[in-house]
Amino acid sequence: MSTPVDEEALKRISAELEKIYIERTRRSRELFERAYRILPGGVTYTVRFMKPYPPYIERADGTRVWDIDGNEYIDFWMGHGTHIIGHRPRLVIDAVLEAMGKGTHLGFENPYAVEYAELLSRVVPGLEMVRFANSGTEANMYVLRLARAYTKRKYVIKIEGGWHGGFDLLHVAVTPPFTGPESAGLLEEITRQTIAVPFNDLDAVEQALKKHEVAAIIVEPVLGAGGCIEPLEGYLKGLRDLSYRYGSLLIFDEVITGFRLAPGGAQEYFGVRADLVVLGKIVGGGFAGAGAFGGKAEIMELLDHIKYKDPRSRSFHGGTFVGNPISMAAGHAMVRHLSQNRSLYERANSMWNSFRRKVDRVCEEHGNICWTTGAGTMVGIHFTRARPRNSRDVYELRWSKTGEMEYLLHLYSRINGILYVGEKLAHLLPSLIHNEEEVGKLSSLLEELLARVAKGSG
Ligand SMILES: Cc1ncc(COP(=O)(O)O)c(C=O)c1O
Repeated sequence: MSTPVDEEALKRISAELEKIYIERTRRSRELFERAYRILPGGVTYTVRFMKPYPPYIERADGTRVWDIDGNEYIDFWMGHGTHIIGHRPRLVIDAVLEAMGKGTHLGFENPYAVEYAELLSRVVPGLEMVRFANSGTEANMYVLRLARAYTKRKYVIKIEGGWHGGFDLLHVAVTPPFTGPESAGLLEEITRQTIAVPFNDLDAVEQALKKHEVAAIIVEPVLGAGGCIEPLEGYLKGLRDLSYRYGSLLIFDEVITGFRLAPGGAQEYFGVRADLVVLGKIVGGGFAGAGAFGGKAEIMELLDHIKYKDPRSRSFHGGTFVGNPISMAAGHAMVRHLSQNRSLYERANSMWNSFRRKVDRVCEEHGNICWTTGAGTMVGIHFTRARPRNSRDVYELRWSKTGEMEYLLHLYSRINGILYVGEKLAHLLPSLIHNEEEVGKLSSLLEELLARVAKGSG
């Protein structure tokens, strides 16, 4: 199939839309100029940058955010996927205010952490023991150290396009060409200990397991930042079998999928058990300091200083803010609510399944120029020649080689009151409380854009 749309036409449309964006975001533009002088790149986190400058958001409520120019947006990004029941839900705010009245950070063992750990072990399958961390990155760092300590093996298998945070061992093969370190300052001798394989490819995993002494296979059960791609039938179960056969641990990075696909995350949703699970985002109830890892007691016990008295015989984990009452109270209120309101999942997952079916139909009518992927409230939109099954497909099958079509969708959404992060790759992490009308607005917008692109390049 030849490129369905002329790139020059796409660029012309983007230029027109950019003009509209600039007219509406005068104050954001001024703030970006100030920000650029003091924050590298003008941003706090590069993924939040948007061309030509980001809208600066000052307020959020429910499913909406407002920028400093007063523009309102439906938020399909929800604090990087943390706000599963909308921005600042009352039940979480109340729990945090109550905890804060007794101290913001106690710095000692406290009942909040024990109660939250007990709740998590009831909700998350196989979570016999758990420890808290300050972020998903941090939880991944400690979980891999633990896996190496337990198996006494060196290598790690990760998935191409998989994002686990900026920790050295996993900051590998995130974007094309999926080889070598992803950042300046990362050492090849460290990143060589990580073997990256394509998602949904069990043969590649088996080859790597045959060749290396692998401590752990770490996988996002639904690929997140790499394109929101769902596992093919039997893939996760296949990983489970391979890990048993070759004596490696299976780690599910459920920083996105945890409490999102189901209260018990991907393990519950897909019915496959990992040895260890990494949690983040929602586990902090929408507050900073969101991270945890846990699983089989037999493995987690390697963190136990009473059993393993010599620090060198156990695996270290800790941190000033771990188990602080704010994160614990917020997370506890959130997870309790989610586990008691399972119908939220049925409604939202079915609504987004309908969205995917509807958009796929529209894409088909336009000559199969786009595809949706994902599971539940994880949604990928791809302008590719075929449905992507892994992150290589996401990039290599793109028909707009400059990424202009992906940018155009983002810009068109932005000026029509829809916001998400990822102008290079549309991956949405909506809440469970977005309504039909909001989801319908997104599909109509995509339909309008496809019509406009077809006309513009015709
Ligand atoms: C699957 C996954 N793992 C780990 C991380 C890193 O978490 P954090 O940003 O809290 O360090 C992310 C962040 O987006 C993620 O999506």
